[in-house]
Amino acid sequence: MPKTIREVAVAYNKAAPLYDYMNRVYFFRRDKRFRSMLAERLNLKPSDAVLDLCCGTGLDFPFLLQKIKNQGTLLGVDLSSKMLQQAKKKSGSERISLARSDATHLPFRDEAFDAIFVSFCLKITPAHEKVIEEAARVLKPFGKIGILGNHKPSGALRLPGIILIKVLSDMAKIDFEIDLEEHLSKKFMILEDRKMYGGLVQLLVVRNSAIHTTDKKSNNNFRITTNLENLSTASKRRMNDA
Ligand SMILES: C[S@@+](CC[C@H](N)C(=O)[O-])C[C@H]1O[C@@H](n2cnc3c(N)ncnc32)[C@H](O)[C@@H]1O
Repeated sequence: MPKTIREVAVAYNKAAPLYDYMNRVYFFRRDKRFRSMLAERLNLKPSDAVLDLCCGTGLDFPFLLQKIKNQGTLLGVDLSSKMLQQAKKKSGSERISLARSDATHLPFRDEAFDAIFVSFCLKITPAHEKVIEEAARVLKPFGKIGILGNHKPSGALRLPGIILIKVLSDMAKIDFEIDLEEHLSKKFMILEDRKMYGGLVQLLVVRNSAIHTTDKKSNNNFRITTNLENLSTASKRRMNDA
């Protein structure tokens, strides 16, 4: 299912006002448990700098904020301005900053973050391999990434799941054929891989096993306090195209 960054941004700009409601209906509020469980797995310290990649409307924020308390920083990044507008309503804490950016070209310096949280994005974004590469670049050596992803249902849900998959592929731009473990294992050590919610949700925890070897981007030397107003001109230009 070929798609572009622009198509994804348009789809999520449209979905933004109703996103939290649709999320509640789809998960029967169980996603709170998945998000909380994943935040727990990251073993965050209060002083940590955490990146919420493709943060959407900020549904992960409460669980991450609870871990970093009043000392760490949480940066939410998304390419959809409308999703970020919703996230802004949940970012009352001074520990949270938001940035509009494409996850395939993050405007942050290498090894800027202690941990990364990515929920329900890697099977949606075009060029997920590049997103994984960027995550490895901005993550500190031995830092952890927690991932929640949509997954093909198994067991009793396998047959009714075929219709669900068709609907979600069209509406939410999810590509269920992507094998996340395979792609992640090229860059990271997989610590946990668990299927939940009748197989519809996959939780993965991976560790950056070594100092990354991708190119140093000296002109992308952003500090983690970056906010929507101070993204680089190049980044803004890319975003305006979306
Ligand atoms: C299904 S939503 C998930 C949002 C949130 N993480 C959650 O769990 O509710 C997917 C989000 O990924 C964002 N997204 C997709 N591709 C992206 C990319 N390349 N860079 C930044 N954000 C992206 C979309 O704009 C959308 O907000």
